[in-house]
Amino acid sequence: MLQKKLFRFGIFLVPLILVFSQCFNLKKSEDPRGSAYAGSAACGSCHKDIATSYLHTAHFMASQPSNLNTIQGSFAKGSNEFIFNADKKVIMDKRDSGFFQTSYENGKAQQSRPFDITFGGIKGQTYAYWFTNELFQLPISYNINIHSWINSPGYDTNKIVFERGIGTKCLDCHASYIKQAPAALPGFNGNSEGFEKSSLVYSVDCERCHGPAAEHVKFHLDNPGEKKAKYIVTFKSLTRDQKINMCAICHSGANSHIPKPTFGFKPKDTITNYLVPVSAEAIDYKHIDVHGNQRGLLESSKCFINSQMDCSSCHDTHVSDRTNLVLYAGRCMTCHNNDTHNICKLTNQLGADILKNNCISCHMPALPSKLIIAGDKGTPVHTHHIAIYPEQTQKILAYLKSKTH
Ligand code: HEC
Ligand code: HEC
Ligand code: HEC
Ligand code: HEC
Ligand code: HEC
Ligand code: HEC
Ligand code: HEC
Repeated sequence: MLQKKLFRFGIFLVPLILVFSQCFNLKKSEDPRGSAYAGSAACGSCHKDIATSYLHTAHFMASQPSNLNTIQGSFAKGSNEFIFNADKKVIMDKRDSGFFQTSYENGKAQQSRPFDITFGGIKGQTYAYWFTNELFQLPISYNINIHSWINSPGYDTNKIVFERGIGTKCLDCHASYIKQAPAALPGFNGNSEGFEKSSLVYSVDCERCHGPAAEHVKFHLDNPGEKKAKYIVTFKSLTRDQKINMCAICHSGANSHIPKPTFGFKPKDTITNYLVPVSAEAIDYKHIDVHGNQRGLLESSKCFINSQMDCSSCHDTHVSDRTNLVLYAGRCMTCHNNDTHNICKLTNQLGADILKNNCISCHMPALPSKLIIAGDKGTPVHTHHIAIYPEQTQKILAYLKSKTH
């Protein structure tokens, strides 16, 4: 009971705790992950193009501080509310002190919590707020596909919920680091995780994929004439499995079992020390979701089994290639370009010209997703089980026909 009260009126406690936690703040210069890490800001001086294009990628948007640039939902009057029913609604408002979600019941304001962290920016966004040293999800999320505020995925349609805890589970895949700490209100609403707020490293950053690079930065600053990469794991030194693990640590599906935080995972580490993937039999090809298991799906494809492909055969992670399906079709053609075998069986029927831009639509179709931005209004997700989909082919053939008439 006391905890519930504390939670409701806790807004007064927060400034005190903030002052308190300042005392433990890290030295500004040091990365919260320790001195082996340099931080993404240190990379741009030598890798300018990558550092610039990276800012437009989903990985950069995976988690960011909430502000006018990162929150895509509207705060304009009339577009800034989500109505549950005649008695209940949530208003999103912008004040001098920041951005807030406030619940109303029968016209009376109930709870008001700030937008602190924004997750996502491609299909949808969800938001978290700090309460003491714990993180909670705000009741209202945003669906980018339909440009609309929505009740957070999986929530009761008649209840305004401020109490769903955000644990390391989300941050594991959506951030680069956070230090765990004893929860200030242990067990409150079943949430037992606390954090050192100032230790959060936002985004999936350069060193989350490439591993710690402080020594690399120092060496190349001291030796500007050296053009060969030193003190960094080079991609070509990795085995195929290690290349895929660089991605699979986060792209093995939300149902993979992650017993401890994965922040420490570096290229060449053994992935099974961090994560137990969903078994191949348990992968549901028909019902993939936004947290879909790209690794498992891809590995079940004949392309994968019969070649040396890895994720970077199709993805250039430093740039946003989203929706450029013609470019991706070009990547299929790097292997499927041989007249004698391996070309599409529909080549004679459709002609190579029409085929060449449409590989993805027929062989990696976008299917409806179940999670996060749920329902038929959600953005469909391209499956990574590359195969022959007769129904999809019928649809695409009908579409192509309608275009030529
Ligand atoms: C003082 C210059 C400098 C800074 C700062 C710097 N690098 Fe580099 N980096 C280089 C040079 C030189 C190379 C080798 C040439 C190349 O690949 O661009 C290199 C290569 C790399 C490679 C390629 C490895 C491969 O697969 O061949 C990666 C990855 C990399 N750097 C990551 C980083 C990251 C991450 C940061 C920031 C934490 C960073 N670098 C900061 C100079 C720098
Ligand atoms: C630390 C976790 C993490 C790692 C490592 C990681 N990803 Fe991601 N990836 C994410 C998250 C989280 C998102 C969704 C972010 C968002 O939309 O806000 C994402 C999104 C993507 C997307 C969708 C891009 C878009 O514009 O919709 C692609 C493609 C992708 N990742 C490929 C890769 C590849 C390839 C690798 C390995 C080289 C990799 N990822 C490594 C977490 C990770
Ligand atoms: C196992 C890794 C993983 C975990 C755990 C995870 N996510 Fe994700 N999340 C992803 C990836 C990968 C994507 C992008 C997938 C895609 O585009 O198909 C994503 C997408 C999203 C998106 C949509 C982003 C966008 O730009 O459209 C949101 C919002 C999101 N996640 C929030 C969360 C929250 C909140 C949690 C914790 C409850 C969470 N995720 C846990 C990996 C993860
Ligand atoms: C999601 C994972 C991921 C993130 C985030 C990421 N990289 Fe990379 N990076 C890769 C992969 C995979 C390769 C190898 C690509 C290849 O060779 O096909 C690579 C290659 C490189 C290379 C050498 C090849 C080249 O394109 O010049 C450099 C330099 C580099 N990365 C720097 C950076 C910097 C700087 C950042 C942050 C701004 C960054 N990377 C963020 C996955 C990532
Ligand atoms: C790295 C090379 C490589 C790339 C890239 C590649 N494939 Fe494949 N693909 C193969 C190989 C090898 C096979 C197996 C051929 C065989 O068994 O004769 C295959 C098989 C296939 C099949 C037959 C599948 C089945 O179940 O019968 C289809 C369809 C296919 N690929 C489509 C694509 C599409 C579409 C793309 C691009 C999104 C693509 N491939 C990218 C190498 C590749
Ligand atoms: C044969 C080519 C190919 C390979 C290999 C491949 N992808 Fe993709 N991937 C695609 C295409 C095509 C899309 C759809 C792009 C779009 O919507 O613009 C995609 C989309 C994605 C997305 C966003 C999902 C969505 O539809 O919103 C993620 C995440 C992703 N890939 C991760 C990975 C990871 C991780 C790997 C390695 C395990 C991988 N991909 C390997 C072709 C490939
Ligand atoms: C209109 C839908 C459609 C498009 C577009 C399409 N395919 Fe196909 N593809 C099919 C169908 C259907 C089959 C199976 C036909 C059969 O078995 O008679 C097939 C078969 C294949 C096969 C297996 C060939 C074999 O010998 O078994 C490969 C490889 C392939 N396609 C690759 C591609 C590539 C690469 C592209 C883009 C250049 C592409 N397809 C474009 C529908 C399509």
